[in-house]
Amino acid sequence: MQTTLPNRLFIRNRANLAAQLPPKSIAVFTANEPMPRNGDEFYPFRQQSDFFYLTGINEENAFLILAPDYPDERLREILFIEPYDEVKATWQGEMLDAQQATGISGVKTVQGSDAFWMTLNDIVYSGYGDTIFLNSYEYPKYECAVETIQQRFVKDVKQRYPMHRYGRTAPILNALRMIKSEDEIAITRHACDITSKAFRRCLETVKPDLYEYEVQAEIEYIFKQNNATGHAYAPIIAGGRNACCLHYSKNQSQLHDGDLLLFDIGCEYKNYSSDLSRTIPVNGKFTERQKQCYNAVLRVMKEITQLYRPGGCINEINETTHRLMEREMIQLGLFTEEDVKRQDPNKPLERKYLMHGMSHHIGLDVHDSIDKFKRFEPGMILTCEPGIYIREEGIGIRIENDLLITEGEPVNLFEGLPIEIGEIEAAMQR
Ligand code: GLY
Ligand code: MN
Ligand code: MN
Repeated sequence: MQTTLPNRLFIRNRANLAAQLPPKSIAVFTANEPMPRNGDEFYPFRQQSDFFYLTGINEENAFLILAPDYPDERLREILFIEPYDEVKATWQGEMLDAQQATGISGVKTVQGSDAFWMTLNDIVYSGYGDTIFLNSYEYPKYECAVETIQQRFVKDVKQRYPMHRYGRTAPILNALRMIKSEDEIAITRHACDITSKAFRRCLETVKPDLYEYEVQAEIEYIFKQNNATGHAYAPIIAGGRNACCLHYSKNQSQLHDGDLLLFDIGCEYKNYSSDLSRTIPVNGKFTERQKQCYNAVLRVMKEITQLYRPGGCINEINETTHRLMEREMIQLGLFTEEDVKRQDPNKPLERKYLMHGMSHHIGLDVHDSIDKFKRFEPGMILTCEPGIYIREEGIGIRIENDLLITEGEPVNLFEGLPIEIGEIEAAMQR
């Protein structure tokens, strides 16, 4: 597996965006900044996903201008990177130079970031930049108490050019990012392969009395050994009742003989996510009741997997899953047919045991998009993740695969990874 992404990916991404901008538009983007932690410490740097999508650059203090109609071809795409700084290079390591930046991104014109506002002025006031497109993070569940560099940048540009028209790149980029190129599919497959390895290692090592964090350590060892950047999200390693807490991520409890263990883990590789859930018995053998519940979820998963075809949508998958799981829950004795007839339609009984959505797009962000009504098209990669959470029995089960939409059957990027009870038990016996 190559260690850098080919720049044709970013060249193509910029071309696709430029093709959708109205005439005389310019689009401007800023890189992320490091998030302060304390003292002179920062959280690990993670590039803003759209900026990475358009440049492949993983550095702070960088900007991108796209001006597709600008007469001078050399100024239609300009990448700005941090100018060389002796002190910074001494303390933090070699800095990217212009030649390297061109190699990574495919952008031919590279300037120092200290020249950004001057160059932007030139282009904006040239008569070829009537509408300025700015990027915002438009995710329905996003709540952020601190102002991000992207938000400050939007304000700053608008303040400098108050008389211009403005447009939003987010809807265009969200739609483009939903359809993965061959390069992105290959990289996501690789992320899924690393995550699979980590889960397989857990099948061999999990046993009663371990702590959840010890299992997490096994996962992190495999992620690191395979050059993953880290986790794509906070990993959930949840024994017994902990699995009924949907965003459990303390991972501090001891694993008990007879309990189930729910994993929701995914590495990030070259900034691309994977997202896997599996549920296994701590001692290697499911009890009869655990088998009943597990197979109920697995049956539904197999059925809804068939809906991941062109024309389908997340909303249909959610509704079908709730309907099918309701039947399964009746079989499991959680409530009766009569109870369902009498239930408040606004509070279906099954929601007590299944309270989350069943699918989202993955990509540069683990929740790349959750547009419930967007029809599936080949090249999309979505999760399929039904579950059941029976708090009173200490049973929490989720099973999650990542599926690539094709013209025909979806392709499971975790194909071959143990999922049947027999496969899990056999892998744990070794
Ligand atoms: N791991 C987050 C999710 O499954 O959606
Ligand atoms: Mn997950
Ligand atoms: Mn997921």
